[in-house]
Amino acid sequence: MIKIVTIIGARPQIIKAAAISRCIKNSFKKEIQEVIVHTGQHYDKNMSEVFFSEMEIPKPKYNLGVGSMSHAKQTALMMEKIEEVLIKEKPNLVILYGDTNSTLAGSVAAAKIHIPVVHIEAGLRSFNKSMPEEINRIVCDHTSTLLFSPTPTGIDNLKNEGINLKNKLPYNIDNPGVFHCGDIMFDNAKYYIHKAEKKSSVLKELKLKNNNFLLATIHRDNNTDDPKRLNSIFSAIHKISSKNKLQIVIPLHPRTSKILEKNLKPQLYRSITENPFITIIPPVSFFDMINLEKNSLMIITDSGGVQKEAYFYKRPCIIIRSETEWVEIVKAGAAKICDADENKIINAFNFYKSSNLKSLPSIFGNGKAADFIIEKIIRNFKNV
Ligand code: UD1
Ligand code: UDP
Repeated sequence: MIKIVTIIGARPQIIKAAAISRCIKNSFKKEIQEVIVHTGQHYDKNMSEVFFSEMEIPKPKYNLGVGSMSHAKQTALMMEKIEEVLIKEKPNLVILYGDTNSTLAGSVAAAKIHIPVVHIEAGLRSFNKSMPEEINRIVCDHTSTLLFSPTPTGIDNLKNEGINLKNKLPYNIDNPGVFHCGDIMFDNAKYYIHKAEKKSSVLKELKLKNNNFLLATIHRDNNTDDPKRLNSIFSAIHKISSKNKLQIVIPLHPRTSKILEKNLKPQLYRSITENPFITIIPPVSFFDMINLEKNSLMIITDSGGVQKEAYFYKRPCIIIRSETEWVEIVKAGAAKICDADENKIINAFNFYKSSNLKSLPSIFGNGKAADFIIEKIIRNFKNV
């Protein structure tokens, strides 16, 4: 039996973990035991608990209750608590997702006590080290034993950083295995959409019609914490909705809702909150979110995961960042990088309003990335 400790903490990691846990439960119960550790990085009910129940993710055996604080304090506290758990549980490997502080803490804590790290969503780069996530990804990739990249671009990035793609079994931290596996978020998008369409009543509750509203999410620290950028983004959103009499639904991340009034100019804040076409709501469940995505006219976002889901459901995407790790989506013509530039955002909206995204290339695999990943893990760790 292979024992895995899965470390999660932030919303997108909880969602990603659903794909791997489901795969273990359905096909590999005899070979694998999974222990889930939640760092507590996200803790509001609608940022964490809601996903466990809705997506049937096994309850974490440990919740480290770390909560919100500065980068160094949060990462250090996580590392200390993760190390204690790893020493107690003695897993054969640790699974980590993405690029949050929970990922960074897990990778350093595990690697230093010689527990192999498996990084899912490896190789992604923005080439912008002012993003905390870019530092987290690089450290995690370079402490990993197995690296699973959803895209060929991710594989190229690892190669360019000196990781040998020709390494052979058995893999270890100095001889890591690199695999192109497709995207577990695509596994989830395919698996849950039918359940979501049956169970979610969000469209009805918000009185939204198919293809007749925009969906927006904003949470990157460089957008929320820089008043100039935040004003520019919300000014574009206000103008698009008013001019086109178009509903815009914004499930707002707590980081953004806490700072919105402080960082928006008073007049813009008033215009936004009084605009009958703009609906700001708390974060929604995954079923509500994918139902909103699939039925929207277009998506405006700075989220990595939401960019991809826009592509899965064939919705045009306006990326409010200066670059993206998901360059394939932009190359396919399904998304435009607009930064926090009001004019670029409005122009991208006008462009996509009158265009149709029908035949998009298949970029993110076949919906079976989790099976592929688990099979590779078993091959490497079966004799440990
Ligand atoms: C984190 C990740 C980011 C990811 C995002 C997903 C890092 C460095 N960043 O950013 O990569 O895209 O999660 O959502 O790990 N808060 C609450 N309730 C919660 C969680 C957070 O109110 O349940 C508020 C707190 O005021 C906190 C702020 O949100 O200070 C930011 O939370 P934090 O986890 O530090 O970073 P995110 O912006 O969520
Ligand atoms: N999401 C959700 N409810 C929301 C907003 C996002 O369920 O109100 C989901 C979304 O469908 C995607 C994931 O959260 O699967 C993306 O996470 P987030 O935007 O927080 O982080 P990122 O992907 O940018 O790291």
